[in-house]
Amino acid sequence: MALPLSDRALAMGESATFAVAAKARALRAKGVDVCDLGVGELDTPVPEAMQEAAHKAIRDGKNRYPPSAGIPELRAAIAEKLRRENGLSYAPEEVFVATGAKHAIYCLAQVLLGPGDEVVVPAPYFVSYPEIVKAAGATPVVVDAPETDGFLLSPERLRRALTPRTRLVFLNTPANPTGAVYPAAAQQALAGALADHPTGILTDEIYERLVYDGAAHASLPALTPEIRERTVVVNGFSKSFAVTGWRLGYAAGPRHVVDAAVKLVTQSTSGAASIVQYAALEALRLPPSAFDPVLREYSARRRMTVEALRAMPGVSCAVPDGAFYVFPNVSRLYGRTLGGATVRDSVSFCEALLGEAHVAAVPGGAFGADAHVRLSYAVSRETLEKALARIREFCGKLENAPVAASARGARGSR
Ligand SMILES: Cc1ncc(COP(=O)(O)O)c(C=O)c1O
Repeated sequence: MALPLSDRALAMGESATFAVAAKARALRAKGVDVCDLGVGELDTPVPEAMQEAAHKAIRDGKNRYPPSAGIPELRAAIAEKLRRENGLSYAPEEVFVATGAKHAIYCLAQVLLGPGDEVVVPAPYFVSYPEIVKAAGATPVVVDAPETDGFLLSPERLRRALTPRTRLVFLNTPANPTGAVYPAAAQQALAGALADHPTGILTDEIYERLVYDGAAHASLPALTPEIRERTVVVNGFSKSFAVTGWRLGYAAGPRHVVDAAVKLVTQSTSGAASIVQYAALEALRLPPSAFDPVLREYSARRRMTVEALRAMPGVSCAVPDGAFYVFPNVSRLYGRTLGGATVRDSVSFCEALLGEAHVAAVPGGAFGADAHVRLSYAVSRETLEKALARIREFCGKLENAPVAASARGARGSR
């Protein structure tokens, strides 16, 4: 008899972005030339200073268990970075280091949530938020942040979603998958909607450096200090320093919450890799201007991608202010049959795109927005150009493909 799995394991969905990456890898292994726009990582080199610091940490014998909350130097450097760059005031003891921002969010959910609790998750959302909430036994309450509102959660919608059971509200700025950046005033309005409700707030700022065209990143507790005591700020090194594989993130918040999360770390990972923590110290010594060349290049790729998508049949695309994704609406192409398969939703769209055009994209359904697909432009210009040409051809074919019998009645109502 097979070993039975727990209800928790059975209820957990796989990360759609990781699933797409696995499919693209499998096709590549068969020799297919795949353009992978599913990836969520910078394609730039790791800063030299970080590479050197990692080597030095090994040579210096920094190979033992680090303190579970993070090495003291790094906690202090993060607190200083939050003060200097984000206008946030945290003591080093109010910061903990985790094995990625996702792991920080996971630990926080485990120590803040339980059965019966509700968590407001604005959609489109980062794929892991609902699953992390469910893994803590709580219930995600998905609230629409529609494209017509710039993919920003409105205070009215937030207010309507609050109940006496709401324990946490997720905020992600700049956002994955939409690239939406919450202006300071929009965040203040959200804080206003929470003034009479004691819920906690988790703000995920991992894409903070990736903002374009004059958009500015702002951190909620810096804007509204009165909610600081019930807010946790999550961030990490993956998306700013091209070290997704090094697995290093952090969170800052009230001391008792940080202490509880660290207790969980002691009983699970024991702590983030010591070598990586020493390298991160160097990352925090780099001035934000060191990121300017990346920003310029990504800004150009973003324009190029949006312009190309807007010229494609059946596709509409908002200009994202941040991150490195575009989130076009492709639903006008649903209901067509191509190569024997009907494209009826974002999953079948992405399957057909990969199968027919060898371009990997992530279905919007995984982010709670089935009319869309997510494309990352964090790939070389050459790959991007090739991928966009392929997508254009694919969309053209799809537009001219026969309408599936099952979709004929439904098309008019979409
Ligand atoms: C919004 C958001 N938060 C957190 C993460 C996870 O980051 P990390 O690599 O630090 O775990 C991601 C990764 O894609 C993300 O998009």
